Amino acid sequence: MSDAGNFDDFPNRVGTGAIKWEPEHLKAKFGVSDVLPMWVADMDFETAPCVVEALKKRLEHPLFGYTRVFERYRQAVIAWFESQHGWQIEQPWICHAPGIVAAMNLLIQALTAPGDKVVIQPPVYYPFFGSVRDNGRELLLNTLKIDGEGLYQIDFDQLEEQLADDKTRLFMLCNPHNPGGRVWARQDLISLVELCIRYDVVVLSDEIHCDLVWSPFKHLPLPLADKRILEQCVVCTASSKSFNLAGLQTSDIIIPSASLRRKYRAQLHRSGLSDPNIMGLVATEAAYRYGLPWLKELRTQLASNLEQVEAFFAQQLPGVILMSTQATYMVWFNLQSYGVMAKIAERTLLEHGKVALNPGYIFGAAGDDWMRINFACPPTTLSEGLQRIKRGLDAL
Ligand SMILES: Cc1ncc(COP(=O)(O)O)c(C=O)c1O
Repeated sequence: MSDAGNFDDFPNRVGTGAIKWEPEHLKAKFGVSDVLPMWVADMDFETAPCVVEALKKRLEHPLFGYTRVFERYRQAVIAWFESQHGWQIEQPWICHAPGIVAAMNLLIQALTAPGDKVVIQPPVYYPFFGSVRDNGRELLLNTLKIDGEGLYQIDFDQLEEQLADDKTRLFMLCNPHNPGGRVWARQDLISLVELCIRYDVVVLSDEIHCDLVWSPFKHLPLPLADKRILEQCVVCTASSKSFNLAGLQTSDIIIPSASLRRKYRAQLHRSGLSDPNIMGLVATEAAYRYGLPWLKELRTQLASNLEQVEAFFAQQLPGVILMSTQATYMVWFNLQSYGVMAKIAERTLLEHGKVALNPGYIFGAAGDDWMRINFACPPTTLSEGLQRIKRGLDAL
């Protein structure tokens, strides 16, 4: 099998159960199924050939009993974060989770009590809200502000008040930020750490998009901004966004503090989730060991796709404000020039454009007049999608 990636086309995903494509899932979510899906954050690209190769090889040993995370796996994770992000993770810090959303829920259960307060920064990836509310904790919203350059900035004054509240136990950071595609500046992270240390609040840093950051920006793992946060942070990572493996439900939760780790593992155990999926481990290990050349090709493709989106909006939809995407394969655009909310735009895009995007309101009220496009697909699909978006927006 060749090492080269295929970014020109992809096999039909209907019939595979894909949440993004399966007509029954589209119908349940959007009320229609004849739409081009450019919503949920998975890519219409085959994964790296080295990952497929490793999975096939594992199938040659047809025994799939209970499995625990093994040393070779941990070494692959450690080597990846050291080589890609300059972060030295110690072997005992690596904990397993069947996905980061699962980990968020488990961490909230493990590290906070009902009635405790948790700070999040909307508009933000929607499970941040659910994981707090559904577990009976109180949400404090440190809503992001938009600066003169149209980028999200943190309201540190409000954040300080919220962290100073005696009931605040946890701060959930999205780093890089989804849906804004923001790479936080080193100084932002340093200031966050300072406040969390001052008020003794644990930080959950969701770094799932860390490998998909666009030049000249660079991902900074939270503990590298200020190592004093090590004993007070949990960094959520996975190969799933970088290598398109979300269906394998495998992620790594890095917890340097022994006491936080004990609490997390106890909750994992109580929930019956201690045993990982063997195929997820095999895929992640292969991705981290052998997948860098493919990831580089992917990044080149995604950077070119991003240019395609920006050029299309500049030429065909010049009144629409796109937030500048520094990371992730998502573009976040504003509907102000149409004078409508995402609730209306969503329907018009579905009915007239035949395209499914994520409406901004799911990321909190601060996203009410925004929409999110997933541009991780072959250029021809992207061209078709952009034409559909224009048709939908023109009908507003
Ligand atoms: C910021 C962020 N965190 C977590 C996830 C999902 O993680 P998982 O599939 O591991 O639950 C996503 C998926 O889009 C995401 O954007």
